[in-house]
Amino acid sequence: MDLERAIDYTNRLLLGSRQRSLTAIEALTFKAIWLDLSYQDASQNSNYEVATIKNAASRLLQDLSKAVDQRVSKKNCKGIVLALASQVETQVDWGNAPIDMQPFCGRTVELAQLQQWILGDRAKLISLLGTGGIGKTALAARAGDHVSADFAFVLWRSLREAPPLRELLTDLVQFLSGFTEIELPPMDDRAISRLLHYLQQQRCLIIFDNAEAIMAAGDYAGQYRPGYENYGLLFGAIGTVRHQSCLLLTSREPLPELMELAGVDLPVRSISLTGLDHAANQLLEKIGLQGVPSDLDRLRDHCQGNPLYLRIVANTIVQTFNGKVAQFLQGDQYTYGKIAAVLQQQLDRLTIPEKVIVYHLAIKREPQTRSQLEQHLQPLDLVRDLDQTINSLQSRSLLETTQNEGFTLQNVVMEFMTTSVLQVLSAEIRGDRAAFFLTA
Ligand SMILES: Nc1ncnc2c1ncn2[C@@H]1O[C@H](COP(=O)(O)OP(=O)(O)OP(=O)(O)O)[C@@H](O)[C@H]1O
Ligand SMILES: [Mg+2]
Repeated sequence: MDLERAIDYTNRLLLGSRQRSLTAIEALTFKAIWLDLSYQDASQNSNYEVATIKNAASRLLQDLSKAVDQRVSKKNCKGIVLALASQVETQVDWGNAPIDMQPFCGRTVELAQLQQWILGDRAKLISLLGTGGIGKTALAARAGDHVSADFAFVLWRSLREAPPLRELLTDLVQFLSGFTEIELPPMDDRAISRLLHYLQQQRCLIIFDNAEAIMAAGDYAGQYRPGYENYGLLFGAIGTVRHQSCLLLTSREPLPELMELAGVDLPVRSISLTGLDHAANQLLEKIGLQGVPSDLDRLRDHCQGNPLYLRIVANTIVQTFNGKVAQFLQGDQYTYGKIAAVLQQQLDRLTIPEKVIVYHLAIKREPQTRSQLEQHLQPLDLVRDLDQTINSLQSRSLLETTQNEGFTLQNVVMEFMTTSVLQVLSAEIRGDRAAFFLTA
């Protein structure tokens, strides 16, 4: 266990039993204890007096002793934390969750808030809301990772292809029962009770990504797609029935139950993500942009702090202007504004193998493994370039890699491509465009 995870775990111990987190000075003290440094050394490496560090250590060790019900000292602290943490073995199934390969910036307030809700308040139902590309999936994955050791089971499921409730419940119950329960009772409420049974028995964290897929598209927010109303029963039950688990979901639209149940006295919470603030500038710099702070601020505002837009625009600036923000801001492209225009521009720049993969993924919709992509490219004699093509699409922020070794398009890109595929297809049917779909 490394220091970061040890701090996470200790934080959870304190939150669980003392209803508080480590303070900044306690985290520093804990680091000294973990690395077997003297308080004197810790003081020299920081701005704190030795006496202040000693006081913080004494309070921390006292509270930890109460939390674990045995005397914790500077000497035995690391051993106790390691021993306790190793007893908690979490069974994890990250499903199609994206692998976090990009630098992650900011969101410290939101992460702390989620940690407090999940570990401290034991919230049962939490929704992460916000527009496409704002960072809901990335934050949910990070939060899930931070709190996973507190759970016996962690499960991630994407609702992007709108699975019928029954299919999803069967999948969850099978996993949580260790595949001893394979069939669910026929009625929805009885099937939901089976899931609740496992959520009561053990602490499970379930993450549903892309929950907007089960909502009706259109002007009226907060309605389920026809045939998906029974999801309301599931969310209502998870928010109100007694159990020890947590459902975290990401959605572009609020679900009706969440609006009805959300409130300080209920274990139901919701966070609306807005654009990144200063973290956006960090992100731009990490991608390789150079510019004075006011230019970076302009670019951030232009993209409304949306990390996906920032990434795509920043990658274009790196490729086209050698990373010089000022040159981009002077040019025509700056006036493009809308993400659709930026995406179209990116698409126009793709090489043939990249286009083939992007169209193929848009048509398939489900993540494709490397060997599936290889099979697809074989007849076109493009396999040689596969790794380079994948790398290039990743560096353009168009491709997402999933935990189970699949590749898929970013959601916003998937939607854009779906529209684009339909346009290309109708042009081909009208006969005024070369048959690209012969290759895709
Ligand atoms: N805080 C962040 N720092 C750096 N990159 C981020 C951050 N948040 C998100 N990203 C990146 O921005 C892109 C979009 O993020 P993400 O997929 O989480 O958005 P989303 O809100 O889930 O969008 P959608 O509604 O389309 O599913 C991803 O490439 C992700 O890695
Ligand atoms: Mg998402």
